[in-house]
Amino acid sequence: MGKILVTGGTGFIGSHACVSLINAGYSVVVVDNLCNSKVEALARIQLITGKQVRFYQADLRDEESIRQIFIDNKIDAVMHFAGLKAVGESVEKPLQYYENNIGGTVSLLRVMAKQKCHTIIFSSSATVYGCQNPVPYQEEMPVSATNPYGYTKVMIEQILRDVCKSDPRFSAVALRYFNPIGAHESGLLGENPNGIPNNLVPYIAQVASGKLDHVNIYGNDYNTPDGTGVRDYIHVMDLADGHTAALAYGMEHSGFTAVNLGTGTGSSVLEVIRAYEKACGRTIPIEITKRRAGDIAASYADAAKAKELLGWQAVSGLEKMCADSWRFTVQNPNGME
Ligand code: NAD
Ligand code: WQD
Repeated sequence: MGKILVTGGTGFIGSHACVSLINAGYSVVVVDNLCNSKVEALARIQLITGKQVRFYQADLRDEESIRQIFIDNKIDAVMHFAGLKAVGESVEKPLQYYENNIGGTVSLLRVMAKQKCHTIIFSSSATVYGCQNPVPYQEEMPVSATNPYGYTKVMIEQILRDVCKSDPRFSAVALRYFNPIGAHESGLLGENPNGIPNNLVPYIAQVASGKLDHVNIYGNDYNTPDGTGVRDYIHVMDLADGHTAALAYGMEHSGFTAVNLGTGTGSSVLEVIRAYEKACGRTIPIEITKRRAGDIAASYADAAKAKELLGWQAVSGLEKMCADSWRFTVQNPNGME
């Protein structure tokens, strides 16, 4: 079927994408510098799929190492997940974010061009819709950002557009993820945040398991049905399958395309907490606190383009997302060691 290089393939989304790719018949090569993940993810991928993944521990900015991977393996296409992703940290350490995310992508693209590999599927984010656009977000809307992390996504999308314009053999699909949550249903693969989680569902998981004592709800005075923030939560395996669909599309088409990967439905913070309570059979204590700086009231996708272009749509609902997150949490009390 083809050999796919997955950058950031030991990370949360990349590891699930490896499972989806292997299930679809691709062979997978992973490169990751392990700055935010553990090599154990590869053993878990093997347990789930029965297939071994070739792994290179390297930094994308180390062009010579990346070039060697292309020389050792005949890579047909790249799925590019590697990057730093903490919004708050990006405000404190902007240069680290620009250097890692943009520098890493530029060296990857340079090697790809030299090695005549012209297909890339990129992890973009709904954050590129900024704070001015109305929901549901559509791909043609103007992009912008409110923090350095978001700007790296806006800039990388632009770099991909320009590379495709300069060389008609290039094909780049920028997938704009909404809020990926959940875990593989085996309970073997999931999200492994360092320290106290910033994101809602990993935080709830730690409250449910007794590591933290309550969830702070960041504001209940938004202009939303129950006053709490609304987001488009998507099961990480649905998201992973969306990548496999995008790869098939990217291999058949050239040029730059941006596609939303969301469910098209928003859920409030309170709805997520209720769904999680149901999944774990425990009460999740809450406290209403003030709004978090930079948050918006609502973010959800118009999911029509993904269906039309990729023939893909999300299938799992919030209950399954929470049940799978909880199974992973119970089975891996100390994360993926
Ligand atoms: P993650 O941190 O779990 O995975 C990213 C992986 O990239 C990690 O394993 C890390 O070690 C690796 N990495 C980082 N910089 C590297 C470099 N220079 N060279 C080699 N490896 C490097 O994050 P994730 O949640 O799986 O996110 C994957 C991608 O999706 C990221 O680009 C992120 O910005 C994007 N994204 C994530 C979300 C989300 O909510 N998780 C939402 C939208 C977009
Ligand atoms: C979801 C909702 C919070 C934590 C972030 C990035 C975004 C993307 C995904 C990469 C919001 C509320 C949260 C808590 C809460 N990443 N909340 N208490 O902010 O939509 O998106 O991750 O591209 O760029 O900004 O996700 O999970 O942090 O928050 O009430 O302890 O939960 O206010 O309404 P967010 P989140």
